[in-house]
Amino acid sequence: MKKVALITGASKGIGFALTKKLLQENFFVIGTSRSGNIEGVEDENFYALQLDISNTESIKSAHEEIFSNFKRIDLLINNAGIGPDLGMQTPEKESFNQTFDVNVTGLVFFTEPLIELVNENGIILNVSSKMGSLAVCESTDSIAYRMSKSALNMYTKILSNRLKNNIRVATIHPGWVQTTIIESNLENARLTPKESADNMFDFLTSEFESGAFWDSETGTDLLW
Ligand SMILES: NC(=O)c1ccc[n+]([C@@H]2O[C@H](COP(=O)([O-])OP(=O)(O)OC[C@H]3O[C@@H](n4cnc5c(N)ncnc54)[C@H](OP(=O)(O)O)[C@@H]3O)[C@@H](O)[C@H]2O)c1
Repeated sequence: MKKVALITGASKGIGFALTKKLLQENFFVIGTSRSGNIEGVEDENFYALQLDISNTESIKSAHEEIFSNFKRIDLLINNAGIGPDLGMQTPEKESFNQTFDVNVTGLVFFTEPLIELVNENGIILNVSSKMGSLAVCESTDSIAYRMSKSALNMYTKILSNRLKNNIRVATIHPGWVQTTIIESNLENARLTPKESADNMFDFLTSEFESGAFWDSETGTDLLW
């Protein structure tokens, strides 16, 4: 029987590349996007799901659809994320709230009811960022984005404590990747989405310990 992966934010960037990779590796993939459409994936083992993670009603409908169509999830990848204040030096209320609505609040309330569907021996992978590390932060930019990823890292720790000896939970830095999370990444970033997805897949299939904060670009643990 195929393993079932649920990936949020599967329409582009890292989530799209992970979707392709997991389909190639024989997973059944449920991929989400705000429109409910995901262009460029024609596969009978793919299920497109509409989800705006910043909207409570949308989360509720997505849960209903998941629970009525699927009995288990082996791999939940919380990938959807935004960075409207990336590069900005001072916080701005609207983008600050948007960032937390998607990267923190939405992610937590999307995840909680799904935990009961995640199989014993399942994995929850939170796509965070090195920019959320308190230990390596020497910069002053992107306040909301950095703070949202630090908050997500704490959620990873809390979940790994709660689900001890059962579901493994980790937080991952996907590397600096050529996506449109910020336009300049398309030119400046080091990794293609495919390279990032391949590295992340290597981590997912390793014997990692629950509660890890992993830098998949360097293949090393990160300091919290
Ligand atoms: N790129 C990098 O260098 C880098 C580095 C470190 C960490 N990350 C993290 O990697 C993850 C993926 O980023 P990316 O670079 O691939 O960005 P991206 O290309 O902008 O993709 C973001 C994805 O999130 C979805 N999304 C945005 N708002 C959403 C919402 N309200 N509800 C549900 N889904 C939403 C988008 O789907 P729709 O717009 O179709 O809904 C899209 O599929 C993020 O968590 C990001 O913080 C990226």
